[in-house]
Amino acid sequence: MNDESNRQALQEDLAQLPATDPQRRAAIVPMMQSLQAERGYLDDKSIKEVAQVTGLSTTEVEELATFYSLIYRYPAGRHVLRVCDSLCCGLRGADRLLQAAEKYSGVSLGKVSPDGAFSVLPSICLGLCDQAPAALLDGEAVGSLDEAALQALLQRLQQED
Ligand code: FES
Repeated sequence: MNDESNRQALQEDLAQLPATDPQRRAAIVPMMQSLQAERGYLDDKSIKEVAQVTGLSTTEVEELATFYSLIYRYPAGRHVLRVCDSLCCGLRGADRLLQAAEKYSGVSLGKVSPDGAFSVLPSICLGLCDQAPAALLDGEAVGSLDEAALQALLQRLQQED
């Protein structure tokens, strides 16, 4: 089943529930993830769609969308590298890693590379402090990173694309 058919099934299930049923609220994150997987990010149309299906206001959905760091309100690259810059990673060279990520991906922090391939984002603690400095690459944890390992990862992705 693809994201659209999963979302359709979820919408049908939610339509059976009363407007105040808490399961409607619980469906927000899966819906946002599904729309993002399909569209790359949550545009205003997606926010309205989630609000309509869940019965929440667009403001409430917007608040949740901006709260979850893995939900993007703006276009992101096909590959998203999130480099942790919290304390443990900061002490172990996160700043240098962020600079290296910009250098090897060819994109500034928070931007999308011209070919749409990469976005590099700073991140709060990823829960990988024992592997600092750490990152998430397309949602996969990458720990004990150094500049050479990061360069190799990005080169591999560039060759695969
Ligand atoms: S401080 Fe970087 S993963 Fe926790």
